[in-house]
Amino acid sequence: MSVKSNGYQSGFGNEFATEALPGTLPVGRNSPQRVAHGLYAEQLSGTAFTAPRSENRRSWLYRIRPAAMHGRFELIQQPRLHSRFGDGPVTPDQLRWNPMPMPEAATDFLDGLFTMAGNGSPAAQHGIGVHVYAANRDMDGRYFYDADGELLVLPQEGRLRIATEMGVLEVEPQEIAVIPRGVRFSVALPDGQARGYVCENFGASLKLPDLGPIGSNGLANPRDFLAPNAAFEDREGDFELVAKFQGHLWRAAIGHSPLDVVAWHGNYTPYKYDLRRFNTIGSISYDHPDPSIFLVLHSPSDTPGTSNLDFVIFPPRWLVAQDTFRPPWFHRNIASEFMGLIHGVYDAKADGFSPGGASLHNSMTGHGPDAATFEKASAADLSRPDVIEGTMAFMFESRAVIRPTAQALEAAHRQRDYQACWAGLGKHFAPPA
Ligand SMILES: [Fe+2]
Repeated sequence: MSVKSNGYQSGFGNEFATEALPGTLPVGRNSPQRVAHGLYAEQLSGTAFTAPRSENRRSWLYRIRPAAMHGRFELIQQPRLHSRFGDGPVTPDQLRWNPMPMPEAATDFLDGLFTMAGNGSPAAQHGIGVHVYAANRDMDGRYFYDADGELLVLPQEGRLRIATEMGVLEVEPQEIAVIPRGVRFSVALPDGQARGYVCENFGASLKLPDLGPIGSNGLANPRDFLAPNAAFEDREGDFELVAKFQGHLWRAAIGHSPLDVVAWHGNYTPYKYDLRRFNTIGSISYDHPDPSIFLVLHSPSDTPGTSNLDFVIFPPRWLVAQDTFRPPWFHRNIASEFMGLIHGVYDAKADGFSPGGASLHNSMTGHGPDAATFEKASAADLSRPDVIEGTMAFMFESRAVIRPTAQALEAAHRQRDYQACWAGLGKHFAPPA
């Protein structure tokens, strides 16, 4: 991998401008008759041309060769990565998985993706695909883009070095990377192996939530989002370009690296964010708020306040509420919840939910703390504050049922006895005599 990081620019959805060679960006126009240094100009649109200005996303790329140059695409089989979420019966059971084992064969990030669940479809432009990955080699000479959705990548073990058309994102566990629909990239593994989670968003691009009464600061602050400075490679060889298009993977030969953008400007860009910078807000009196208080990013749907995707984290925080059951309460929600754990312990489960594991609680399926957590929290001393440290759990929450794939239901690492974690909840009902 020969693209070197040139660092980052700060902000969310800004009009960024960056050049790896001085004097590349045209001044006062986007498409001059001749671009500096013999480059081609190319626009990449991420929203309809006429989307409202506040929603509009596009970037101008100044590159060695236009994106049109590659061989003919042919369909390839990678049955583990797909967008088939089925239309048959879907179990309302609570579901949970152990971490996906690391591969034994040589497996890069793309081949290591395993589709767990999803809803909607790329064709409908709403819904999500939920994937996990486990990989042990770099995508050397392989480049990928996802025309179906934006990719939210959460490393759980091992760093990722994601070289994109706009520049390089280096992310480690507890950081996230977001790669917009269509942007070409290649992933290297600085630690030799890596595992994590990916949410593929078929709907509207992720955005920061409004803050309402919280005010002008808090939760994920815009300045903590980092877009890459332009970085490019001028590299020729027998390479492969893989596209995910309408649920299938396609491969084309390409004689050069598509990571050849020397300069770019605009607001359609990959970015990274360190989840440890999240400004966590909670109760300082009694009860705890709904988990929407932990919202990092969301993909709105056509219904106000009802998301296609909410990306929520459960970070370290103090628990001070009085006369309150401090862990998450028992609940059933209209929304559907896919959870994962980056590291540490999630405060609603005493055991069984491991870093790298996953759980799925669909619409109106009852869930909540396990028996051990309930007993402990019911007897806890509330005169002292408690602190949750060294943990980072997250949730992909969606308005539509998240349908597990057949391969996820059949996987050896699925916990078929998950429901037993609630079996020990005793009957404490004691009516007055
Ligand atoms: Fe839940």
